[in-house]
Amino acid sequence: MKRAYKEIQEAIQGIINKREKAMRTGEIVSNDDLKNGMMTLEDVIEECKLFYFAGQETTSTLLVWTMVLLSKYPAWQERARHEVLHVLGTDNESSALGQLKTMTMIMHEVMRLYPPVMQMTRAVERDTKMGDFVLPAGTQLALPTILVHKDPEIWGDDVAEFRPERFADGVSKATRSHNQQGAYFPFGWGPRICIGQNFALMEAKIALAIILKRFSFELSPSYVHAPSPEAPILQPQFGARLILHKL
Ligand code: HEM
Repeated sequence: MKRAYKEIQEAIQGIINKREKAMRTGEIVSNDDLKNGMMTLEDVIEECKLFYFAGQETTSTLLVWTMVLLSKYPAWQERARHEVLHVLGTDNESSALGQLKTMTMIMHEVMRLYPPVMQMTRAVERDTKMGDFVLPAGTQLALPTILVHKDPEIWGDDVAEFRPERFADGVSKATRSHNQQGAYFPFGWGPRICIGQNFALMEAKIALAIILKRFSFELSPSYVHAPSPEAPILQPQFGARLILHKL
């Protein structure tokens, strides 16, 4: 742990030193918070770490599960490819991303079944009443996203199936009834909701669109399906062995 800590600290410090040098030589404009001393170097390092850890594994994991599921369900892979070729053949590719409706449905369904952040935790600071529960100070709460995403009462009897069409009319219409809307929360909820959610979806869509345009893919016979919580990201324990065919 100490070695990893030192390695990350030095890597980020190196990036910051470079930026500070560029600020001094006037190549880039300085950040006001830094200039006015509202953020220390320590703060900046911690923020960088948070963005890196919160953003890197989560998004790559979403992409991996999407490829696994599109391999298992080739008809959806074909539908997604058709949409990409149809929508992204145009001049203005960045605005076209918003039109990838099938891909959005697919990614929602992937994150329902395989939420990269499978559980969130909270510590209760002071005695709190929540519905019928009284939570004493010091309680540790676990909110298992993955279990709520797989509750048949909320999603229906086909809860375990990969059916992106349940998101055809958006997230709010995907559950069985309206008052269950909050039951889909791959990016968390409330004031601490993921700050990078739009960025993550955009990044994953661009990556998947590029892959779909150039390759078809299937699961390798050596693929073993073993979703496993790797502190605290839901990852394929033995990797995702895929065979790509150039198109
Ligand atoms: C598919 C990708 C992603 C998933 C599934 C995801 C999921 C989440 C979840 C569940 C939370 C809430 C954690 C909690 O309440 O305890 C969260 C918070 C956060 N995420 Fe993401 N995230 C993703 C991508 C990103 C990216 C790309 C970034 C940054 C570039 C990012 C930055 C953050 C930050 C900074 C927070 C903390 C926000 C706060 O506490 O105010 N995330 N994310």
